[in-house]
Amino acid sequence: MKNENSINLSNSLKLQQRADRQHSRYKLTASERIEILVDPGSFIEIDSLVVHRCNEFGLSDQHYKGDGVIVGYGKVNNRLIAICSQDFTIFGGSFGEMHARKVHKIQDMALKAKIPIVFMNDSGGARIQEGVDSLGGYGEAFMRNVKSSGVIPQISVIMGPCAGGAVYSPGLTDFIFMVSGTSYMYVTGPDVVKNVTHEIVNHEKLGGSKVHSTKSGVCDAVFDDDIECLLQIRRLINFLPMSNSSPVPVLPSKDSPDRISPSLDKIVPDDSIKPYNMMNIIQKLVDEDGDFFEIKKDFAQNIITGFSRIDGSAIGIVANQPLHMAGCIDINASIKAARFIRFCDAFNIPILTLVDVPGFLPGTNQEHNGIIIDGAKLIFAYAEATVPKVTLIVRKAYGGAYIVMGSKHLGGDIVLSWENAEIAVMGADAAVSILYKNQLSAKDKSTKISDYKQKFATSKIAASRGFIDDVILHPRNTRRAICNAFEILKNKKDTNQFWKKHDNLPL
Ligand code: HXC
Repeated sequence: MKNENSINLSNSLKLQQRADRQHSRYKLTASERIEILVDPGSFIEIDSLVVHRCNEFGLSDQHYKGDGVIVGYGKVNNRLIAICSQDFTIFGGSFGEMHARKVHKIQDMALKAKIPIVFMNDSGGARIQEGVDSLGGYGEAFMRNVKSSGVIPQISVIMGPCAGGAVYSPGLTDFIFMVSGTSYMYVTGPDVVKNVTHEIVNHEKLGGSKVHSTKSGVCDAVFDDDIECLLQIRRLINFLPMSNSSPVPVLPSKDSPDRISPSLDKIVPDDSIKPYNMMNIIQKLVDEDGDFFEIKKDFAQNIITGFSRIDGSAIGIVANQPLHMAGCIDINASIKAARFIRFCDAFNIPILTLVDVPGFLPGTNQEHNGIIIDGAKLIFAYAEATVPKVTLIVRKAYGGAYIVMGSKHLGGDIVLSWENAEIAVMGADAAVSILYKNQLSAKDKSTKISDYKQKFATSKIAASRGFIDDVILHPRNTRRAICNAFEILKNKKDTNQFWKKHDNLPL
């Protein structure tokens, strides 16, 4: 029988070898990750002495302190967060009974203390030797994820394997970030896929960061390595309130709300179907010294979502992107924007919407895959949001998409437009074709198109009805108008009027 000293020595040798293996795969250890995430010296660990209670399948002489996860508190720019960092060097970060209890404890404490929680995932999943204790532990973590949803921001960072049912804890949190080349997520791995469907696929193609950031939309951003990823999470946390009852963070800004941007006067092409980059408008409007932290940059690129600052205060931005699919709204864009708006609303982050949208994307693909329900998600999100909602129509807003994109009709508090914005049921060409079918000569058709443009494709009628609060004659002055709008709404308090257990969001 081995004595305790020899067990300790061989265990610490193993740990060193596993840490080296982690480094050789361009991954940091659990504690190194925490050091980068938090302000220097601010981390306070709890439950560092916890060990598992399992004696099955060779676990009886392997008791590593901490049981494969480090939990505790730290500060990011002097604001508290809770942390849970899985340690792949101990049992592959697998989720056993005591490991689970540590996770639950920090989840409970984060919720009670009303502080954000960051989960760093690097784990082989349910600890096989611990059977149902492990599975139950996941279930109880999921319960806590759901209870915390909308109360404290929950951020998941995938920094290694995340497989099986384990993916559903990240799936229940607000954001999922991944590291390129070292992280993957899937419900069933390549071997199971091969057995069941005979499909041959590797980790990366099944659930790597590229797949989840561009195709599935599961992942909110991908970073090159652990260090870059954690530094970006610090940046994100600067935009977030501590909880749903905390104020939105304000960083003093040196950028005057009255700053004029002459280039905005010419930023939108005269030709209403010519593409341009909406990001250039965003950059001119938000604080010059403020960041823009983009969410789901590589997914549904026809809509932009992200956090920025106006006059120092964090805001969420939703904007059509004419560079991709002319800025049409499709299923993916609807889901992406709806989820972002709901996050902002849950955490009292005001929303700025920038509109240049030709409509919903037509076609069987969209209809058969459920654009009716998914488009409804976006309507639902705007309509139920009670945070300050400021909307600017920069070029066109047609049909249903006009209504959806933060219009007055869905509770837009202050809706602005540039003078040449077109607000209509559809574009002039399409309208004339429908109204006159093929009855017109080319000359008459072009006269009707320009008549239509003059009469309907302007913001004047919408402004005359009060659907637009103000028409900005010179786009260069837009920043001032937007800063004023958010200032007016600073103390807005609004609640959904009727008691309900919860709504029935179209899922
Ligand atoms: C116990 C595990 C483990 C697990 C890994 N290890 N996964 N121990 N339970 N689930 C241990 C290994 O035995 C090894 O121990 C150490 O962790 C490192 O693992 P390696 O295999 O050497 O690492 P690597 O080559 O990088 O492979 C990583 C891996 C692989 C792809 C994750 O370990 C693997 O396939 N693990 C099993 C994955 C799995 O099927 N999990 C269950 C999913 S189902 P030593 O002592 O040798 O260092 C699930 C259900 C959840 O999670 C349901 C929730 C509702």
